[in-house]
Amino acid sequence: MIAKLLLDRKREGGTLSTEEIEGFIAGFTQGEIPDYQMAAMAMAICCRGMDVRETADLTRAMQNSGRTLEWDVPTADKHSTGGVGDKLSLIIQPLAASCGVFVPSLTGRGLGLTGGTADKLESIPGYSCSLSLEKFQAVVKSAGVSMAVQTDEITPADKKLYALRDVTGTVASIPLIVGSILSKKLAEGSDTLVFDVKTGIGAFMKTEAEAVELATALVNGARANGRKAAALVTDMNEPLGRAVGNANEVAEAIAILKGELELPIVPLCVEFAALMVALEKGMALDEARELCRTNLKNGAAYAKFAAMVEAQGGSLEAFAQKLEEPVFRFTLQAPKSGYVGNIDAHLVAKVAFQLGAGRAQAGDRIDDLAGVTLAVGRGDKVAMGSPLATISSSRTPDLLERNAGELLAAFSIVSEKPEAKELIVWRSSM
Ligand code: URA
Repeated sequence: MIAKLLLDRKREGGTLSTEEIEGFIAGFTQGEIPDYQMAAMAMAICCRGMDVRETADLTRAMQNSGRTLEWDVPTADKHSTGGVGDKLSLIIQPLAASCGVFVPSLTGRGLGLTGGTADKLESIPGYSCSLSLEKFQAVVKSAGVSMAVQTDEITPADKKLYALRDVTGTVASIPLIVGSILSKKLAEGSDTLVFDVKTGIGAFMKTEAEAVELATALVNGARANGRKAAALVTDMNEPLGRAVGNANEVAEAIAILKGELELPIVPLCVEFAALMVALEKGMALDEARELCRTNLKNGAAYAKFAAMVEAQGGSLEAFAQKLEEPVFRFTLQAPKSGYVGNIDAHLVAKVAFQLGAGRAQAGDRIDDLAGVTLAVGRGDKVAMGSPLATISSSRTPDLLERNAGELLAAFSIVSEKPEAKELIVWRSSM
């Protein structure tokens, strides 16, 4: 296989055979194909695309670049393309586990504006996301659910390729995104895969059409590989829930898991967990929804979360104490009376990042206690001077003043109560 000839062909819009794709990815993973040729191939794929067969081959080649897990119990996982305040996995995974499916969930650390699920979980003192695959499998079996970071043994091709795509302007390509997301999820071995593809100002996919295209490709790819799959495209124009940060998001997720907090994201969590349970157990969706609602109220979902935290070394008592630690806080007030209209998710995430809740480069330290906690949601009535949000940082008070003004621009205060928005904007077949 001569890499240069494949590059010429893809640049001209031709197709690559299964063997050529396998050879290219294997050569790149083993260091025989240099980064510059892989980067050129990624750019050619970005510009010329790949058909369904080529995308499936790319996904399989990346999946087979490392270890693949197998399970002898019913398994399901949910993947999100990521959003602002997206603590949904912290709720959905234990909730699904409480309904009798096992949930192996390999997740990411955040790069960009907000922390990833792993960063949020590691704000719980002692909780470790860096598990060996053997330990990960043991936690899934004993606690019913594990959330840990992907090790180097899973899809090493994706790790290398994603780092290149990140710096060569080649992230935005449906075949490359499908190959990246799906290869990891297939390698993790779950029998059922449910995808949350977000769309809007705070999402990776800005338009609904792009999000639907990605969701469809993920579902088709998973099914072509023998998995049960479904996807929802969900709105990501406003933050999900009230907390955007790390420890504050975990606290919010715990309150929801204990059935103590009702927010518009709760029915969305129920919908995702119900899809996982219905597909994996062959149950009617309505029945699965009912079971999920019951398990949020009766403590069963929280018990799964607590079992996972304990199995991964975390202490929820120490977490509760951590939330009481002194931090610098500033409460933002409504500049006029009216109703809360839009709350710009991107601006809220930017402020949370500037306060220290995200990392600019791999290895940067996150401030667990930094972030934004909204006091209001869309449609709430506010009086002039009433609280809109609290921002916090454990680093320096100067950060608060600088960010308060910017956060204010995220809120629109309108005179008429805005219509409630549906969070689910599209759904795949089941
Ligand atoms: N998330 C991934 O894991 N890979 C992509 O390519 C894009 C988002």
